[in-house]
Amino acid sequence: MQVIKSVHAMAEETARLRQAGKRIAFVPTMGNLHEGHLALMRAAKPQADILVISIFVNPMQFGPGSDFDAYPRTFREDLKKSEAAGVDIVFAPAESDLYPEGFQTTVTVLEVSKGLCGAFRPGHFKGVATIVLKLFNIVKPHVAVFGEKDFQQLIVIRQMVKDLNLDVAIQGHATVREADGLAMSSRNQYLSPSERQRAALLYKYLQQAKERFEKGEHRAQALIARIQSELSRNPGIALQYVSIRDRDTLKPLDTVDRPAVMALAVHIGTTRLIDNIFLGD
Ligand code: PAJ
Repeated sequence: MQVIKSVHAMAEETARLRQAGKRIAFVPTMGNLHEGHLALMRAAKPQADILVISIFVNPMQFGPGSDFDAYPRTFREDLKKSEAAGVDIVFAPAESDLYPEGFQTTVTVLEVSKGLCGAFRPGHFKGVATIVLKLFNIVKPHVAVFGEKDFQQLIVIRQMVKDLNLDVAIQGHATVREADGLAMSSRNQYLSPSERQRAALLYKYLQQAKERFEKGEHRAQALIARIQSELSRNPGIALQYVSIRDRDTLKPLDTVDRPAVMALAVHIGTTRLIDNIFLGD
């Protein structure tokens, strides 16, 4: 496994690989790798000759006063896990290399960045779209894999790829969960034992909503009201939003009459958690 830290060296390597007719799969990450990240890598691996991952904690997608400085950085462990997952190249650029002085161009995906997490994290998806486009331009992957846990992010990337005619296939990967259903996340480690227990309720309530949907409740507002009332019975969970959206466009739905996603964000203590579940095929 190669570790490449400079943008120039990575770009040279991808040019060489492409010249040699190699197919490149790519999994961008912010490191602190867990089973969720590794599942994406294992899914990407057989689809290409070369598996590249990036590890970069992207300052542009963190709001002011957010957890950028505190974000867990575990580079040595990440390298071991990447190697075991069959990664060929870890691209781990420095901030000054990706955002040199004078940097001033950003990518805004207008509609699908609004609402849901976009409403509570201004500028977040601009930061995500900008860094992902930069990484695509440096790594030049044929295919890139993103987790469905960050569902709005996946839709933002798909829209950017379509709108800007990028020549890369975007693949979604199902959310990887702990045994009790909690979606794996680098932020789970911030939870105290009692908060950690409470966090498992999120997926439980989402699953119950899906069951109600499958038993015939197709009114979005009824499904939402029920989960709101269940969450409100847990004083340790502060709901930020829960919403039911069209799974392709993220437009809000009144009636769940097409493939949809029910997405939510909460705070448990100071930790912000997101999760979602699919309704319909
Ligand atoms: P990060 O949070 O490190 O996540 C990297 C990738 O892993 C994303 O595609 C994310 O959706 C996926 N992922 C995280 N937890 C997952 C889980 N439990 N199951 C399945 N997939 C999971 O998302 C980012 O980094 C950044 O925004 C990035 C795209 C790298 C741009 O900076």
